[in-house]
Amino acid sequence: MTPMHFGFNQTHSSINFSFFLFFSMPIPLSMEDKKHFPLAFKLMVVVLFLLLHCVCFCTAVAGSSGGKKGKWQLLLNNTGVVGMHMALTHHGTVIIFDQIGVGQSGYGLRRRYNGTRCMNTQHDLTDWSCFAHSVEYDMSLNKVRPLRLDTDPWCSSGSFLSNGTLLQTGGYGRGSRRIRYFRPCENGHCDWRQSKTLLSDDRWYASSQILPEKDRAIVVGGRQVFSYEFVPKLHSNHRSFDLPFLHRTTNKNEGGNNLYPFVHLSSDGNLFIFANRDSILFNYKRNRVVKSFPRIPGAGSRNYPSSGSSVILPLDHGDRFHKVEVMVCGGAASGAHQAAEQGKFLKGLSSCGRMVITGNTHKWNMENMPGPRLLNDMLILPTGDILIINGAKRGCAGWKNAADPSLQPYLYKPKKTLGRRFSVLKSTKIARMYHSSAILTPDGRVLVAGSNPNNKYTFRNVRYPTELRLQAFVPAYMDRQYHNTRPGNVSIHYGSGTNGGVRYGEGFSVRFWLGKKPSKTVEFSAYAPPFTTHSISMNQRMLKLRCKSMVRGEGGWINAALEAPPSPNVAPSGYYMLTVINGGIPSISQWIRIIHA
Ligand SMILES: *[C@@H]1O[C@H](CO)[C@@H](O)[C@H](O)[C@H]1NC(C)=O
Ligand SMILES: *[C@@H]1O[C@H](CO)[C@@H](O)[C@H](O)[C@H]1NC(C)=O
Ligand SMILES: *[C@@H]1O[C@H](CO)[C@@H](O)[C@H](O)[C@H]1NC(C)=O
Ligand SMILES: *[C@@H]1O[C@H](CO)[C@@H](O)[C@H](O)[C@H]1NC(C)=O
Repeated sequence: MTPMHFGFNQTHSSINFSFFLFFSMPIPLSMEDKKHFPLAFKLMVVVLFLLLHCVCFCTAVAGSSGGKKGKWQLLLNNTGVVGMHMALTHHGTVIIFDQIGVGQSGYGLRRRYNGTRCMNTQHDLTDWSCFAHSVEYDMSLNKVRPLRLDTDPWCSSGSFLSNGTLLQTGGYGRGSRRIRYFRPCENGHCDWRQSKTLLSDDRWYASSQILPEKDRAIVVGGRQVFSYEFVPKLHSNHRSFDLPFLHRTTNKNEGGNNLYPFVHLSSDGNLFIFANRDSILFNYKRNRVVKSFPRIPGAGSRNYPSSGSSVILPLDHGDRFHKVEVMVCGGAASGAHQAAEQGKFLKGLSSCGRMVITGNTHKWNMENMPGPRLLNDMLILPTGDILIINGAKRGCAGWKNAADPSLQPYLYKPKKTLGRRFSVLKSTKIARMYHSSAILTPDGRVLVAGSNPNNKYTFRNVRYPTELRLQAFVPAYMDRQYHNTRPGNVSIHYGSGTNGGVRYGEGFSVRFWLGKKPSKTVEFSAYAPPFTTHSISMNQRMLKLRCKSMVRGEGGWINAALEAPPSPNVAPSGYYMLTVINGGIPSISQWIRIIHA
């Protein structure tokens, strides 16, 4: 393979002093200040510049006449590898990887990574090292290049470090205790690096969450492993810690039903851990369960192999990002695993539960999706709405364990009244079941890859063949009719003295262009891109940022003064996608880096 060069042109945020001078006259006004201003000056300001207030509360997205169901694009016929795991880097590329145990993938190599030639022999055609099992997809070139894996990262976990390096943990066999790093680069030469340090326990089907402490992640659970540990290791902590909650939530005869636990960082610095049907608030610093939440109502289970999904709804500056609400959707019926082994595929769960995990009263508020669903991915769109995509209607996770692909994504609008929150979006023709994934991209589309309910790459004579096509789901907000509403040319301007990032609580400004007057609601969101696999999007979170003032200058340019989130509990340091949303229509996102002081 010839290495590919990256033509991706990232608009890096830079300080633009002439811009600040231009806007130095109309001092941005906050709501409180405004009423004290002398009328004459106020009029002058209004005459010279159109002064705008930021309305930082979310209201309904632009009207909803019919036909706003989005559309699908086929991007590639062959990604080379099954998109079992996917993660977006801050260079706008996507790391995709599968397991190496499948042997032959869709991307044959002329040479192994150790230099020896791959021949057309029976041996080499099934030798995993003659095939790529990980690729980097460049969105601007619409091409993949192979990446090197030495051990198996099958069913593993991951988090991004504060500098944008992907920290990947665990896998299978010799890979089950491995820690790997992928440091994204511009030149297309970067690759996986395997750490010499090993994890303490095997982490196959574990979950990872980045912690408020700089560059530390926790890895929770795994098959037959009821513990957690920290990565990278501190000298004093060279071991794992038992987590009885994982013992308690295991359904032995049903393949566990508590693998890939849902782990979310709450705004108080504790971890929310959900497994099977139960959940706890966990203080990882003291190894102590702070709270046990009520069991989610209804039968069935939510975690692997029942494989529902979960998100935390957008955190809002309005309450200093205090309130955290978890939403869990879908999963499998009780007994689905044993039934699937006998070729019977039980109908999946239609229900979703929402629960506020902060404060003192906790109750699951239940509602139903338009249909049963499992193996589903849940993504937070720039609008703050939740997209439920991929999956199946019956069965559970595992090879050949599911039937009836869920071809229609669902859109969920959390702020609407109960009963009016769900809508059904445009159907795809491609089944995305076991071992598929989905991620949000900076342009607002959702990349969808993978699906392989077979234990090898199998394209014929099976009900659900191995799927190597890469698609994008294009939400309705990207429609041409909204182009005049869409904020354009977004750039981020950090204050002077910061080195390429914004510190907690600090101000920064965002400049963008809008041909017409902004809508009543202009919002600014910061989104942490997840590591996604097996229906869980690790580390996904969205923050609705505080906008202190917004000034409209000449020629349609708008300058907004924003405030970074207050603490790493709310937003662990790292790269976030910043989006300007005007009347429900998002801009293309730009990367913003939140740094420790
Ligand atoms: C994928 O393959 C089909 C059928 O061969 C072809 O018509 C289509 O143009 C291809 N699409 C892409 C994106 O390569
Ligand atoms: C290269 O890798 C192959 C497959 O793992 C192995 O059989 C072979 O001995 C290796 N050759 C060298 C020179 O390391
Ligand atoms: C980011 O940090 C990790 C861990 O400290 C390091 O290995 C990696 O090289 C760093 N990446 C960049 C881009 O500086
Ligand atoms: C704004 O963005 C458009 C489209 O990307 C580009 O063509 C145009 O040159 C940009 N304008 C400015 C003033 O940067």
